[in-house]
Amino acid sequence: MSGAPPIDGETRLYGILGHPVSHTISPPMHNAAFRALGHNAVYLPFPVPPERLEAAVAGLRSVGVRGLNVTVPHKTAVVPLLAELTPAARAIGAVNTLRLDTGGWCGTNTDGTGFILSLQHDLGWRAEGKRVLMLGAGGSARSIGWHLLQEGAARLTIANRTPARAVALADALARDPGGTVECLPLDGLAGAAPDLLVNTTTVGMGDGRAPADLAPVGVREAVIDIVYAPPVTPLLEQARALGLAHTNGLGMLLYQGVAAFEFFTGAEAPVEAMRAALEAALQPPER
Ligand code: ATR
Repeated sequence: MSGAPPIDGETRLYGILGHPVSHTISPPMHNAAFRALGHNAVYLPFPVPPERLEAAVAGLRSVGVRGLNVTVPHKTAVVPLLAELTPAARAIGAVNTLRLDTGGWCGTNTDGTGFILSLQHDLGWRAEGKRVLMLGAGGSARSIGWHLLQEGAARLTIANRTPARAVALADALARDPGGTVECLPLDGLAGAAPDLLVNTTTVGMGDGRAPADLAPVGVREAVIDIVYAPPVTPLLEQARALGLAHTNGLGMLLYQGVAAFEFFTGAEAPVEAMRAALEAALQPPER
């Protein structure tokens, strides 16, 4: 099936809340999934500035929107407005996906789930018993770090430009029982020899830079960069030159969408239709 969805009196509504949302690629990805499954549903962008977030969340519940994604700058601010949180969302303190249940909105966080699924599907890699070096200590790092520990990573080392943020994140993540969490300075990574290196910083996103010089680090198995534009960052070029398994952030983007779709529809997501829509949306426009 292709073309516009058949909007009628039965059409179910979904969407994404953010500010801005004009560049989001979630609508094409989720609408492709609805078309592939033949669902009478539509997914819309909702541009909502911070001062209107509370009214928007209440209003979208009143009109019966079934599910929402939540993006910058609302991922943390929306949490007090929800009726329920999944354990992941509670531990991470931020959500990117909401489902309307009878008691109100239930929030979860599928960013880290998407990361773990990409590790499994794109690299054939599992965290259990492994040592991971994570660059960055922002919102993405929090979600990814929590999920890596849940998956049984033996050691998580965090290195960040602002060391105090790395220490604060390590303290927060170490509260859950699991592997060891420690910090290293960004200029002190030589010989760290992790099994996996993860870049969660924005370095490499069009600036032509790598967040670290990879060769002295001595990565044993794989490198994952959550940046997806450009598709091959300077860090991934280094990984390729060193013969390491590597992947970019496209898989995380896809699988966070897959997990969100399954959370708010209850249906099994059509992964390949979503991947094709994502790849098409990321193509530069033809001139
Ligand atoms: P996100 O939610 O995508 O993780 P974020 O919370 O703003 O975004 O975090 C961005 C991360 O990229 C942080 O770890 C940030 O480092 P600081 O904590 O020192 O700000 C990192 N980052 C951004 N620009 C950077 C740069 N030029 N060099 C090194 N790290 C950078």
